[in-house]
Parts: sequence; structure tokens; C-alpha cells
Amino acid sequence: MCDLKLSNIKKYYDKTATIEDLSLEINSGEFLVLVGPSGCGKSTLLRMIAGLEEMTSGTISIAGEDITHLPASKRGLSMVFQSYALYPHMTVRENLEFGLKNIKTPPQEINKRVANATKILQLDSMLERLPQNLSGGQRQRVAIGRSIVQQPKVFLFDEPLSNLDASLRVQMRQEISQLHDKLDSTMIYVTHDQVEAMTLADRIVVLNKGNIEQVGTPIELYNSPKNIFVAEFIGTPTINIIPAKYSKGGIINIAGQEPIQLKQEHAALSDGDQLFIGLRPEHLRLNEKNDFTLTVDATLSELQGDSTLIYADLSETAVNIKLKSSKQLKFRKGDPLSVGFNEANILIFNEAGDAV
Ligand SMILES: Nc1ncnc2c1ncn2[C@@H]1O[C@H](COP(=O)(O)OP(=O)(O)OP(=O)(O)O)[C@@H](O)[C@H]1O
Ligand SMILES: [Mg+2]
Repeated sequence: MCDLKLSNIKKYYDKTATIEDLSLEINSGEFLVLVGPSGCGKSTLLRMIAGLEEMTSGTISIAGEDITHLPASKRGLSMVFQSYALYPHMTVRENLEFGLKNIKTPPQEINKRVANATKILQLDSMLERLPQNLSGGQRQRVAIGRSIVQQPKVFLFDEPLSNLDASLRVQMRQEISQLHDKLDSTMIYVTHDQVEAMTLADRIVVLNKGNIEQVGTPIELYNSPKNIFVAEFIGTPTINIIPAKYSKGGIINIAGQEPIQLKQEHAALSDGDQLFIGLRPEHLRLNEKNDFTLTVDATLSELQGDSTLIYADLSETAVNIKLKSSKQLKFRKGDPLSVGFNEANILIFNEAGDAV
């Protein structure tokens, strides 16, 4: 367990900045999840922490010790890759032992650690098998086991579950969460999966083009995104962003809709300001009278078993919205609908996209 401190980290490939002056402190025992669009620098950042990639500038310290110039093998960190990276010609047991043998760990200690990892990950029946005779989920468990036996100060995971099918992902997600509880280790975890991010993280870091947009607990990011980028990144289906205009007296006007009269004047907005309102699909209620109502025309409905995702255009505009109903419904294109929502669920962003 340890605090990990990243200070002013920069990474340039040629002249392009992949990471721009990033600073972040990760607490001891914390489960930190990194999310962001493809190419925003998540893997690069993880690899620099692991010591597998050189930084252009900046420092990394663990528990107060500067490890910026330490080689990967001396950092006491361990990385689990998306591709498992097991040795194909070695049995599960040999894969687990290999790293420890390499650093001349005494055989008794190796046996103890392998037995412990085997127990945690329930690999007992597979120890003598080759990776090719394991399922994807079992291979990934071995890859995680290889990290556990190292007893790293920090576990680094780069999309470890993305090659698994949906049901295995759910199972492995729960196993990783239990692993974190058992080991109480610091973990940094990259994922594209919303549910993994929301359920595993103590804190989520949203990266965009090598910059941190926001750091916070999953609920902070969901309830109070700092800007439209974060609002659109956290939550599925994606939040609805609707252009509007502010009028004095706390009135929000959306083209073709009844004005929205807020309880009070918005301190950060002035008469005539352009703005965007954010409404999450799960906060919109079909044909229910709430504080406010939007009139829309259905464009498509997707029956998802227990619920229906409805796509619609705001009447008289081309602004498309989505809403989620817990009922099994079917609509035809052009069906007129009314959609209710409450003031408490409105997020307001200024013209620049920042929450106000
Ligand atoms: N060795 C390299 N040489 C040049 N550019 C690189 C190199 N490695 C990564 N990059 C660039 O750095 C940027 C960040 O890459 P990185 O792999 O960190 O993204 P990522 O956030 O992990 O994306 P993904 O979600 O697709 O895995 C990308 O634009 C990528 O093309
Ligand atoms: Mg990556």
C-alpha cells in the first residue's frame, strides 16, 4: 500500500503532446479508474507509471520516494494487460512462478505466494494446464495471479476485461472488486466500460487529449459534471444536451417548447445568454406530468427486454433526445409524445460548455 504522486508529467511523441502537464495524487488503497476517448493517453500514462515508457518530463513518487528514474523491475508495480501476455509454453503454475524465479525469490516463498494467489483466484484445478487449454476468463485470472504473486505496491490494469464476453466481464468485474477488498492494494484501472468505471472506482479520472477534465467519485461525476465533455462521458445512455437561451427572471427557452421557469434567477447567467441544458435519459418520464414538459416526435424505439430506449426529435427542431422507460413499449416514427422532467434533474452549461 502506498501513496502514488504524479507531478507535472509530460509526454511528447515527436512534437505532439500526448500527456500535457498532468498532476495527480492517488491515495493508499485507492481504486482509481482512468477513462477517456481512444487515443487520449490512458495507456501511455499507465506505461509511464510502470516504467515501461519514458516521460518527457515530470516526476513520480511512491510513499515519498522518487521513482522517476528507477527501472520498471525496481518500482514494485505490476501491470495486467488486455492481451493477458501469458507464456504459451509454460503451465499456469510456471507462469505464476516465472517472475519470482527470475528475481531469485527463495523456493519456499514462491510456493507460499503461488498457493495464496491460487486460492484467491480459484486456480487450483488449472495449475498444470497450458494457457491454450484455458478459457479467456481463466487466462485473465492467471494474468492477474501473476501480478498478485509479485505483491506489488500498486496494481496497474490496462483494460483487462475487454477481450471477454459480456457475462464473463460481469463475473471478472466482481472478482476484481473482491480482490481489491481482500488485498487492500492501490489499483489504477483503465477501462472503456461505464459500468466497470462506476462500480469499481473510488475515484474516476476523466482524461481528454492528455489533460484531466475532472477527478471525482463516480457519483460526483454523474451528478455534478464540470462540463459537457464529462457529462457526455459518464452515464449510459449518453446525456441529452439541448441548446437553449436564458431570459431574465430564471426562464430557459428551448425553441418550439414551453418556457422553463426556474424557481429563481440563475446567478451565473444574464438575459439573452446562450446555454445548454443537460437531461439524463433516465430522468425523463414518458407522458408523466413533472415540473416541466417537452413535446417530441418519436423517431425510433428499442425494446431492451425490461425497458425501452426511445429516440425522439424535439418538436419543430432537429434536436434529437433519448429517454429510457422501464416499460415495454413500441412507437412508430412520428408518434407525438410528451416527456416530463423535474427541475432537480436539470444540468446547466454555459455557451462554452462549462457547468454553471
Ligand atoms: N510509440 C508511439 N509513437 C508515437 N505516438 C504514439 C506512440 N504510442 C502512443 N502514441 C500516441 O499517443 C496517443 C495516446 O495513445 P494511448 O495508447 O495512450 O491512448 P489510449 O488512451 O490508451 O487509447 P485506447 O483507448 O485506444 O487504448 C495516441 O494518439 C497514440 O497514437
Ligand atoms: Mg490504451
